[in-house]
Formats: sequence, C-alpha cells, structure tokens
Amino acid sequence: MADQLLSTVPHHHSLPENYIRPESQRPRLAEVISDAHVPAVDLSSPDKSHVIAQIADACRSYGFFQVLNHGVPVELMVKMMVIALEFFRLPPEEKAKHYSDDPARKMRLSTSFNIRKETVHNWRDYLRLHCYPPEDYVPEWPSNPSSFKEVASAYCKEVRQLGFRLLGAISLSLGLEEKYMEEVLGEQEQHMAINYYPKCPQPQLTYGLPAHTDPNALTILLQDPDVSGLQVLKHDQWIAVHPQPHAFVINIGDQLQALSNGRYKSVWHRAVVNSEKERMSIASFLCPCNCATISPPEKLISEASPAMYRSYTYEEYYKKFWSRNLDDEHCLELFR
Ligand code: SIN
Ligand code: FE2
Repeated sequence: MADQLLSTVPHHHSLPENYIRPESQRPRLAEVISDAHVPAVDLSSPDKSHVIAQIADACRSYGFFQVLNHGVPVELMVKMMVIALEFFRLPPEEKAKHYSDDPARKMRLSTSFNIRKETVHNWRDYLRLHCYPPEDYVPEWPSNPSSFKEVASAYCKEVRQLGFRLLGAISLSLGLEEKYMEEVLGEQEQHMAINYYPKCPQPQLTYGLPAHTDPNALTILLQDPDVSGLQVLKHDQWIAVHPQPHAFVINIGDQLQALSNGRYKSVWHRAVVNSEKERMSIASFLCPCNCATISPPEKLISEASPAMYRSYTYEEYYKKFWSRNLDDEHCLELFR
C-alpha cells in the first residue's frame, strides 16, 4: 500500500519495529573503513592500454571502479538528480498513482526491497523503470515533474552508450574480442532504480539496502554528490565509496563474474543511511536478454582454470534471484 512509502512522511521520529535488524545483522558503522583509496579510471586518457589494465585490475581485486571523463554530459547528470529528487518531493497522492509492490511491473514506485517477502524492511523508497527500448516504456513514465520523460530518457541513452563502451573495455581486458560480451548478452534490457533514502532516526539498526550482489551484467551508479552511503566489501571489510564529483560507480554484476569464469568479482555492496541528510542514488542496470545463454568463454577455460559455472539462461537466473532474499548467499553459487 502506498502509505508504506517512507517519503510521504515529512520527519521520522523513531525507527518502526519492522525495520530493526537483529543484533548480528546490523551494519556496525564504526568498523567501516572510510579513507580507503578506491579505484578511479579516467576514460579520456589517450593511453588506452593503461585504461584497460586499470579496469582489469579493479575488476579482479574489487569488482567495482569509478569512471571519470566518461562522456555522459555533466549537466545531464545534474538534471537527472534534480528531477529524481523533485519526484520524491511530490505530494503523497501524486506518488500513490505509481505505487506497486509487484516486482513484475515494468514501472513502479515501491519501498524497501521486496516488501511482500521480507520480514525486516529497508529504509528506502525507489522508482524502478524499464528503459529499453524507450518507445515501449517512456510514454508510461511519470509526467510529473514535467521534464521527467525528456531528461530521464536522454540520461538512459547516454548511460547505455557508456555501458557498451565499458563492456568493450572489459572484454578486451579479458583477452576477448571487443564485442564479445555485447554479442553474448544479446539485445540487452536496461532498468533504472531511482533510490531515495530519507533521514533515518537510528541508522545503526537498519539498512538502505543490505549486502547484495547485482544479478545483471553491469551496473552504472550515479551517487548523490553530497551524501555518502555506498559501501563495498573487500577482504571482509566494508569500505565507504564516497561520491566523487561527476563520476559514476561501475559494478560488475553476477553475469560478468560468470562470463569471466570467476576472474572478475560481482562485488558485495550495501547502502547505509544516516540521521543527518536524505540521500539519492540512481542505478542503471544493463541486463542480458532473457534468452541469452551464459557460460564461461572457451578462451577462459583451461585445465588449470576449469569452467566454474554451468551454462544457463538469464531468464532462469533472474527467476532464481527474485525467489530469494536480497542478503542470502551469492546467487551464482547455485549455478556451479
Ligand atoms: C544499489 O546497490 O543498487 C544502490 C546502492 C546505493 O544506493 O548507493
Ligand atoms: Fe546493487
């Protein structure tokens, strides 16, 4: 029900019982590493082989990296953030029109993660949109704020181009043909999750999103320029990924872990909340065609490095992912 949306309440005085994690599952914010160096790649560098080597290194050791000078116009990134925030500031009755807790819907405003299945909820509202091909979806997108369709569709188009460029670089970095991933992944879908995390009265007891890996191929995340909240797991320690001006955070998803035969990591990450400031993030997901067959490339299989995963279709994987809870073990483990 739409009255479950957090963003319809101007100020939350206390954390409701059903958002409180049991002691053993809490974020332990004091233990998070806040000053780690996180990899950032300048895509405009003329030294292409250096760029490819940096990407390979980041994908192997972290499973994520940031990109700078990535070709998506900065004004468009700013405009996208502005309309996203304007959307969450709309009056409750306006937002209620878009509310649904059915994960199968191709456009929906919802809260937490999978509100129908969870026992403990997450401190997040989100608008989730299917974006490609645009003519199939954009007409149904919100028309309030009035520039939403125009700005969000221009943004999706730019982000898609960046995603394909990165898939090319990732293919090359694995010693594969530049178009390898693009071809295997087929006619890719594109989804966008616009996340809104309100100020939280007790951030040490809950999550914006608990630890998870992304089920898709590649995620391109635009973070709120002013508020931190994203953390990634490295060597069993949570590392804060503070926003860097004009950067995107790139996550390797489960499908690229499988297609690299485990060389690249689909990184565990989470979003935490805070009591000082609301936070936004906008995640764009490149998702394989449902019919795509995912199996490790011949070139990456050898006696020393046998195939780590069985062959499966993305449709099969995605169903499995949504049948589980977000913070269960790595879904790929079920496809060995
Ligand atoms: C996500 O994992 O999709 C969102 C992370 C964030 O809000 O930074
Ligand atoms: Fe994620």
